[in-house]
Amino acid sequence: MVPLSRLFSSTLGRKYLMGASGLALVLFLVVHLLGNLTLYAGSGDPMNTYAARLHALGPALIALEVGLALTILLHIVTAFQVTYSAKAARPVDYENAKTKGGPSKNSVSSRNMIWTGVVLGVFLIVHVAQFRFGPSMEDGYTASVDGVMVHDIYRVVVEAFAQLKWVAFYVGSMLFLGFHLRHGYWSAFQSLGIINPRWSKPIHALGLVIALLLAFGFLFIPIYIYATQSGGGNS
Ligand code: HEM
Repeated sequence: MVPLSRLFSSTLGRKYLMGASGLALVLFLVVHLLGNLTLYAGSGDPMNTYAARLHALGPALIALEVGLALTILLHIVTAFQVTYSAKAARPVDYENAKTKGGPSKNSVSSRNMIWTGVVLGVFLIVHVAQFRFGPSMEDGYTASVDGVMVHDIYRVVVEAFAQLKWVAFYVGSMLFLGFHLRHGYWSAFQSLGIINPRWSKPIHALGLVIALLLAFGFLFIPIYIYATQSGGGNS
């Protein structure tokens, strides 16, 4: 096995780490969206039950969260390293570069990966502070599921999305997520060196489908909650 320090010290190794961590984060997003689909139920029980089961994992959940945080950190650090070493080595700006054929890698998404990534980084800090470390059971956010007292995470989400400013923040951020994933998914396969010319077009097309499904799957949640729940506020 190649030691992590060796991977970090070469541009190819950093690209590999960036691609692998990016694909792991796509997997997290798919699982996260599937869990969040419970928010479309229109009542608190499905989401609160889902979250309570997750938190019942105890130390295993903490290990997963630490793994996730490290993966996000790895992705950010390698993305900055790759971007700035590529900029230093590139004689022609992307804006003026010509594509060599096949699916074009030179698009609005590809040219702005670092900026869409920075916006997502800011989104993530706000989002995790708001929902993961937001109002807790000690603050009175409790609900009863099958006679058991659990954290009313549904109420935390509904109270946020009852406010138009948060709906706008989430909808805007999810558009950035779509652009980031649109190029990122494709680029990860290239970085990992597993693009066979025959698969190039299907993988590129799948990237678009995944970007659209994830961005719009998340994006409609605040809109749906604002439209259906904002009058009531609580679960
Ligand atoms: C409308 C969109 C979204 C909603 C409603 C939502 C909802 C939530 C909720 C309720 C939690 C807290 C879970 C708990 O404490 O049990 C959470 C955590 C989290 N979310 Fe989201 N999320 C959304 C989009 C996203 C996106 C797009 C990302 C990544 C780019 C993301 C990344 C995270 C992370 C990293 C955590 C912390 C996970 C943990 O520590 O267990 N979320 N989200």
